[in-house]
Amino acid sequence: MNNLTTRLQPLLEERPQIVLVTDSTVGPLYADKVREAVPALTGAQTLTIPAGIKDLASLTDLWRALSDSGMTRKGVVVNLGGGTVTDIGGFAAATFKRGVSFINVPTTLLAMADASVGGKTGIDFNGLKNEVGAFAMPEAVVVDPGFLRTLPPAEILSGFAEMLKTGLVADAGLYTELLKIENPSDREAGIPVSLIERTVAVKEDVTRRDPHEKSLRKILNFGHTAGHAYESRMAALGRPVPHGVAVAWGLLTELVLSHFELGLDSAALYPYARLLREQYPPFPFTCGQYDPLLELMAHDKKNSADGRLNFTLIPKIGEAKTDCLLPPAKVRPAIDATLDLLGS
Ligand code: GLY
Repeated sequence: MNNLTTRLQPLLEERPQIVLVTDSTVGPLYADKVREAVPALTGAQTLTIPAGIKDLASLTDLWRALSDSGMTRKGVVVNLGGGTVTDIGGFAAATFKRGVSFINVPTTLLAMADASVGGKTGIDFNGLKNEVGAFAMPEAVVVDPGFLRTLPPAEILSGFAEMLKTGLVADAGLYTELLKIENPSDREAGIPVSLIERTVAVKEDVTRRDPHEKSLRKILNFGHTAGHAYESRMAALGRPVPHGVAVAWGLLTELVLSHFELGLDSAALYPYARLLREQYPPFPFTCGQYDPLLELMAHDKKNSADGRLNFTLIPKIGEAKTDCLLPPAKVRPAIDATLDLLGS
């Protein structure tokens, strides 16, 4: 937990109030270790919410606890956990007394590579994901690879997909380095921390330039139009997969679409497909599933009113084009090609 001592500790010194937010999975595993590594947290109040849920009940608990703790705008909230904790803890901080600083300490690779960076905060509400929220930038994101040692391999692969996406849309050199990793889900020897930090830096740069997703930030949606449909379909079939696993499949579909629509060199498809075949769960769909998948894609809120589907695509690795509108009939062959390339 060296990064916590060297990077988090200095950010917390001289704060009049510090509150640590975590959840019922991460808290028992790490709250004591984090306090040991970061002396400034000694005596800080710890709020533990139920794992995996970011709802109004937990948000109310957080607001009440912040109020009872005497939190002021000079204090800071430290969010220790995966994307659920950084989302709800960030939102609680952003809305308490019209905005208290928060620092994210992501404990999953998915949260390190994506959720904890860029200021999307919020809760699920009325049966809808991320229905209520706000853009509020964390004061800092402190990444410590020590947390990855307890992460299940499927969760590492989930975060790795978002790293690959970041390279594909904005940093060809990062993507090349990621492809060289032999066994990304190996907790000890897998992903070099320098590549995690490079991913965070790219995402920080993109989101600082377009925090409210008016234009540039949309490049980060690459792989997600198809990926969300794959994720939702698997959940509906009662076989849920981690978000990033569905995104990994979605990236291949959208690489194929990039080849069809923007002339991405077909040579780019094969190393990515090989990585998926070797490291990720098999692509679970056959042509009988295309209609429900296209139906799900049609419900994406980014689509145009005329029924065309909205994609971010890439003309070459490291560059992206947003708002590519395609009729569903053009997407079907890309799902077919995904199936062919993955040899399912
Ligand atoms: N997950 C994409 C973004 O933060 O914009």
